Amino acid sequence: MRDKSILLIIGGGIAAYKTLELIRLLKKRGASVRVILTKGGAEFVTPLSVSTLAGDKTFTDLFDLDDEAKIGHIKLARDADLIVVAPATADLMAKMANGLANDLATTCLLAADCPVLIAPAMNPFMYEASATKRNRTQLFEDGVQFAGPANGDMACGEEGEGRMLEPVLILDKIDRLLNQKKIEGPKNLLLAGHSDSSRLEGRHVLVTAGPTHEPIDPVRYIANRSSGKQGYTIAIAARNLGATVTLVSGPTELKDPDGIHIVQVETARQMLEAAVGALPADIAICAAAVADWRVDQDHPEKIKKSASKPPSLGLVENPDILKTLSQKGPKRPQLVIGFAAETQDLVDNARKKLKAKGCDWIVANDVSPATGTFGGERNQVTVIIDEQVEKWPSLDKQKVAERLMGEVADTLSKNEQAAE
Ligand code: PMT
Repeated sequence: MRDKSILLIIGGGIAAYKTLELIRLLKKRGASVRVILTKGGAEFVTPLSVSTLAGDKTFTDLFDLDDEAKIGHIKLARDADLIVVAPATADLMAKMANGLANDLATTCLLAADCPVLIAPAMNPFMYEASATKRNRTQLFEDGVQFAGPANGDMACGEEGEGRMLEPVLILDKIDRLLNQKKIEGPKNLLLAGHSDSSRLEGRHVLVTAGPTHEPIDPVRYIANRSSGKQGYTIAIAARNLGATVTLVSGPTELKDPDGIHIVQVETARQMLEAAVGALPADIAICAAAVADWRVDQDHPEKIKKSASKPPSLGLVENPDILKTLSQKGPKRPQLVIGFAAETQDLVDNARKKLKAKGCDWIVANDVSPATGTFGGERNQVTVIIDEQVEKWPSLDKQKVAERLMGEVADTLSKNEQAAE
């Protein structure tokens, strides 16, 4: 971070005290840090402690004649490689989502032409309130990046989602953003995530999508409600970033996307064979809803309906494609991502799958019928990487795919830089 400039905006929440540690960590990594302390933020931390740690004056007032003459709020935004808002309160997020600019912080945010990262922190009910949900979606769509929030005990005594992410985890996210090959302004950031057609150039991405059909006899099969939309949009987003893409698809109604090598399969066993056959790959993303079981014997002829009793069918477990791809070995992709389709205890169950399957990330989604995730146009996912749990708002599946592939591209370039 040696030659990077971070503009940190400290909002008015109890978590503001943690940003002092963030400043210290950023400085330790060699970044230059300028801080805007909002009026609310100054209720929790003092300009003196901020300035001491940042090694620079603390900016507070839009109408400070001296500052305006010397630097100016536009220059404050322009000089930054990244703007970080921590804690991002419900109020600050609402102002950002609506383009308000009535103080130094919001004016700089509106004038920003670099990426913006926010670390939300608020009471769980405020975080889940419909107004905040709308603002979150708007901010996501504007290309604003999110760090957290985390789940846990709140200063107000309640428990839930809304705790500001720990400074080291915010630092990790900052590191990933600064290591992106191309950094653009917030309005363009999402575009940068998918229209920059070279970010995954030279990479091979393997995607599984759709359901599998497990024959019972020549005319009947076991299946599920996956439409393939989420997997196909991921394959398209990877292609749009310049990757060579192999899409192993179960039976769907979707059109074959252009510029993607597609392998159509029917059963889990065929899907496994096609996926393993497509290796080596740099990244594997298993979005397919693979049937966990198949019937234990072949029925070459249609099972006859008997007047006495229905036939009893035995089941055997299908091979696990995600688990196979995640196994250590020379052909293991650098990054293996699974999905977890749950109807209860989303995060706990997804975490268990992350561990059991041995993949690197897991994208959890609620597939209870009321959510419309299976077959629908939208998806609300929670991305779990190690201890980090990042809940995204409900987005169009294409947006989920673009965002996910943007994160994948960031991670790969960060890994590359670390290896250099
Ligand atoms: O296709 P859509 O209608 O757009 O819906 C999208 C989706 C809900 C199907 C998708 O977002 C999703 O959640 N895909 C994973 C569905 C699933 O089978 O989840 P699971 O929790 O049962 O499996 C966990 C992971 O293991 C998945 O990555 C799955 O692909 C993989 N798996 C499971 C069983 C198996 N035998 N082999 C596998 O590879």
